[in-house]
Amino acid sequence: MEPGREVKGLHVITWGCQMNVYDSARMTDVLRPLGYQSVETPDAADMVILNTCHIRDRAAEKVFSELGRLRLVKDARAAEGQRTILAVAGCVAQAEGAEILARAPYVDIVLGPQTYHRLPEMVARAARAAGAVIDTDFPAEQKFDFLPDAQAPQTPGGLTAFLTIQEGCDKFCSFCVVPYTRGAESSRPVDSVLREARRLVDSGAREITLLGQNVNAYHGEGPDGRVWGLPHLAEALAAIPGLARIRYTTSHPRDMEEALIAAHRDLPALMPFLHLPVQSGSDRILAAMNRGHTAAEYRDIVLRLRDARPDIALSSDFIVGHPGESDADFDATMQLIRDVGFAQAFSFKYSPRPGTPAAGAPMQVPEDVKDARLQALQALLRTQQDAFNAATVGRVVPVLFTGHGRKPGQLSGRSPYLQPVHVDGPDALIGQIAQVEIRERYTNSLSGTLIQERAFA
Ligand code: 5AD
Ligand code: SF4
Repeated sequence: MEPGREVKGLHVITWGCQMNVYDSARMTDVLRPLGYQSVETPDAADMVILNTCHIRDRAAEKVFSELGRLRLVKDARAAEGQRTILAVAGCVAQAEGAEILARAPYVDIVLGPQTYHRLPEMVARAARAAGAVIDTDFPAEQKFDFLPDAQAPQTPGGLTAFLTIQEGCDKFCSFCVVPYTRGAESSRPVDSVLREARRLVDSGAREITLLGQNVNAYHGEGPDGRVWGLPHLAEALAAIPGLARIRYTTSHPRDMEEALIAAHRDLPALMPFLHLPVQSGSDRILAAMNRGHTAAEYRDIVLRLRDARPDIALSSDFIVGHPGESDADFDATMQLIRDVGFAQAFSFKYSPRPGTPAAGAPMQVPEDVKDARLQALQALLRTQQDAFNAATVGRVVPVLFTGHGRKPGQLSGRSPYLQPVHVDGPDALIGQIAQVEIRERYTNSLSGTLIQERAFA
């Protein structure tokens, strides 16, 4: 911040995916030179940003109800002579910008995910003008060329960080709004990713999760003038001293190329835990979803991954009740789950998204059928998750310690599979990785004992 500049409060509310968490941090970064600093509550804020998600359910309704609440805060501050700039960002802003301004005219700025680098200019315009500023372009310039690099890890304690390397999607799954809200697929250049990763590591990050709507379709321009894929990028990241763990999410089965599978064998820093959404186990529904692969092809990818990295565990997303899904289709999904075995999964009832092909498709599945299928599917997935956690008991796993546990003398960290782990141990281990023998499992965590007091870097 420039010396002498007035300090202003900024409150960011973030809904949705990890990329929104990352984006919120970047919006905070880009506003810092204007004097904005984070504050805990909206009533202390000169600017409030609501970073929204449009992926499922009544996204717009949720936004309008939150805006109603923020309006009261804005009015109360106005009564005391204080101005609050209210901005709506994220995928609902992109999809329903005009509607937001029509229904909530007290909103000052509406901006889509591709224009965050223009935020300072929008704030300046909003501060000057009466009337709202809207920017939901898909600009020709790449926002990452204009945004400052992330200054620090975005998570508490700062030991784990997110880093967006790819954005947008060209796959057009029948049910999904992402290609419309996040735009066409694009990748950040390798140099810019490596520079930001080094900076994050310098500020304390030991683990980086690479983000992208189709992260394994990454194809960034390399310093050698060639196009680098994710395996090549992961290799370069793994060479950064101090960076112990690399993850990436979310991947598409179609982009799970041999070189990436091989990277799981060759790069110990690449964590053996992969989120690889399959959505359905029925070929008919996979085709209707426009996923571009069959259930057998998914099974084959899993086999090859397990061959390359025997301790790899899988996580997935499932949708039940996509238009046209019959009982037999649903059974095929249950069978795929039984065959593959998932350590963790997210599952959803199909929710029609305006403007997507599936929303207008015939043979919508009744709500009660969706409910029953979701219950059955989640019960099966829960059993698998429990079995996976139970199988960890008795094993020795490397744990990255990220902070204190609830009890005195206790440390908390996470396993390669993102399971929270508690042990008794010295504070000096925070930020380090140490081997832990897992002794017990609880509903949402594990506990164990250190088998070597000395950490390795
Ligand atoms: N209905 C239900 N679930 C959806 N997802 C995306 N769009 C929809 C929708 N319209 C789920 C998919 C995706 C995850 C991020 O959200 O499973 O992988
Ligand atoms: Fe949506 Fe499909 Fe693209 Fe994933 S691959 S973001 S589900 S359109």
